[in-house]
Amino acid sequence: MSEAILKAQNLAKTFSTGFIKKRTTIALSNVSFTIPKGKIFALVGESGSGKTTTAKLILRLEKPDLGKIMLFDKDIYSYGKEYAKHVCAIFQDPRSSLNPRMNVFEIVSEPLKIQGISLSKTELKELVIKSLLASGLDESFLSKKPTSLSGGQSQRVAIARALILNPSLLIADEPTASLDASHRAMIIETFKAINSQGTSIFLITHDLKSALKIANLVGIMFMGHLVELGPIEDVFKQPLHPYTIELLSSALQKRTQENLQEEPSKPSSQGCVFFHRCKQRQSHCQEGVREVSLNGRRVLCNLY
Ligand SMILES: Nc1ncnc2c1ncn2[C@@H]1O[C@H](COP(=O)(O)OP(=O)(O)O)[C@@H](O)[C@H]1O
Ligand SMILES: [Mg+2]
Repeated sequence: MSEAILKAQNLAKTFSTGFIKKRTTIALSNVSFTIPKGKIFALVGESGSGKTTTAKLILRLEKPDLGKIMLFDKDIYSYGKEYAKHVCAIFQDPRSSLNPRMNVFEIVSEPLKIQGISLSKTELKELVIKSLLASGLDESFLSKKPTSLSGGQSQRVAIARALILNPSLLIADEPTASLDASHRAMIIETFKAINSQGTSIFLITHDLKSALKIANLVGIMFMGHLVELGPIEDVFKQPLHPYTIELLSSALQKRTQENLQEEPSKPSSQGCVFFHRCKQRQSHCQEGVREVSLNGRRVLCNLY
């Protein structure tokens, strides 16, 4: 096993909403995983399963209720503002993440300004162009405003901004969800190229085919639980968890996310979270579920 860049240990996060009638949502429960250095870790699972919350915890945008995250074996909260140099992010909607009043040069160079890194004008321009090239754009974009860019180009500008500080880890939360198929494929190729330069990537996606193309490891989320984890080729070839089996077969049948959401899924307090939808459930699964580790894989299921 190669060296870890990031380790998430036993993360739990609950959200409370509503003033009069309080509602609590368990967004994450006992989530642990490791991102090895230089690898791409894909996190998949239906909407509401806790993927963005996991990304927000890594980015320090939310604090976990329990558990901790280590970057290079140091708690992420022991870093100061330099944390943003190590871990950068891009999100689903590129247009809303770019300031419409700034041009591409200002947008891409902004993280250097925030970090107080001062460079000569020539050095700064060189670095911005290098970042644009790594993201699949070129010098001709420098003076353009976000309003004149396509969705794919906007996402590339967001990637260039994320790469300017040469981060060790790039967090990408559904970066291709708002793009058409051709732009999606190009962005995925860009991630592969970025990864080959040494940047580790945490990729949240609904696009299982793209994940299989570029990721080394996959984590499968269901209702805040990481139900399966392992090398992506092994998991996709021989899924162990009944939810993974359902997810992969529904992707093959091209069922939409909406279809999946229609099915009732009730949380259970101690037992398996997938109990109500599981075709292979046994009565004792309602009382508890065990985590099994085999051949570099992990599965949260009583069948193994
Ligand atoms: N700020 C928040 N306040 C209340 N509930 C939240 C908040 N953020 C996320 N949640 C809830 O936590 C669960 C997981 O959400 P999220 O991590 O966004 O899932 P995903 O990214 O997999 O779609 C959902 O039920 C969502 O409604
Ligand atoms: Mg999300």
